[in-house]
Amino acid sequence: MWHGCPMPKKILLDCDPGLDDALALLLAQGDSNIELVGVTTVGGNVGLARTTRNALALREYLHFENVPVAAGAGQPLLGERRDASHVHGESGLGSTVLPEPVLAVDDRHAVDFLIETLRAAPGAIHLVATGPLTNIALALQKEPAIARWVASFTIMGGSFTRGNATPAAEFNIYADPEAARVVFDADWQVVMIGLDLTLQALATGAVVERLGRLGALAHEFILPLATFWARANQSGASTSEWDGQAVHDVCAVAHVVRPDLFSSRPARVQVETTGEFTRGMTVVDFDSASPNAIVPVMLDVAGFWAYVEHIYSIVAGQHA
Ligand code: RIB
Ligand code: CA
Repeated sequence: MWHGCPMPKKILLDCDPGLDDALALLLAQGDSNIELVGVTTVGGNVGLARTTRNALALREYLHFENVPVAAGAGQPLLGERRDASHVHGESGLGSTVLPEPVLAVDDRHAVDFLIETLRAAPGAIHLVATGPLTNIALALQKEPAIARWVASFTIMGGSFTRGNATPAAEFNIYADPEAARVVFDADWQVVMIGLDLTLQALATGAVVERLGRLGALAHEFILPLATFWARANQSGASTSEWDGQAVHDVCAVAHVVRPDLFSSRPARVQVETTGEFTRGMTVVDFDSASPNAIVPVMLDVAGFWAYVEHIYSIVAGQHA
């Protein structure tokens, strides 16, 4: 303890930047209660080369140059690679163009980086995954002990009602169902932040208007990321009429440091891998006597945005 101030929580983020992955990185970098100890990339929203380039560019733009970035899997364990460039744009960051990164990617594969980093700090690091779970599954298969070494494991993925990639499957699970099954079948508890939760975290017109007061970083970075999809899909409605764009991945990072903003239920989650119409579905049993997951179901929406906007205002004030 630092004179009553809790030590920052160490987070290792496996991601596929990605509009909302970028906003999640901004939160992780901006909150002094978080120490970002590593970033690993996976193919997802766009291909691995682009998600990795985006992570490297974000590292320099947001000034976390001391944090290693390691590239991981570009293909799912099984089946064809799927992407979400129709949502995130061809670059993966919508219309946001960041300077080309100068610093190099770590020379270790993400899987080895995950294992080495967690082995070196057992019980100390909160692992968060906001893309397809391929790297996590490969790491579990190579070293099952990582399930014991994490302080916690949180994903943005899945849902207990509906999908977004298909009517049944959320994108991160749909992109690699076999990996998701390995992850949920491992010997740990998964905090599954699914669409049912994240679709409560909408950057509505009111949120956009408040973020717009944060100055240059908001106008050149936060708002373009938080509205890229909405602008393309809100059928010409004025900003104030927007339903808004969900900042899915921000919820996963927020849960690590502000679990008080979420109300959750234990559940057994199983991943469908063979269903003709349901491949990639997370089948969530809230009545199970053997839960393997904690599933946040309700978000304190006002509290969430108050927290996120506060952290973003701090970063905006520091941003050169
Ligand atoms: O379904 C939403 C998830 O898929 C988010 O992580 C988004 O970045 C995409 O990867
Ligand atoms: Ca993502």
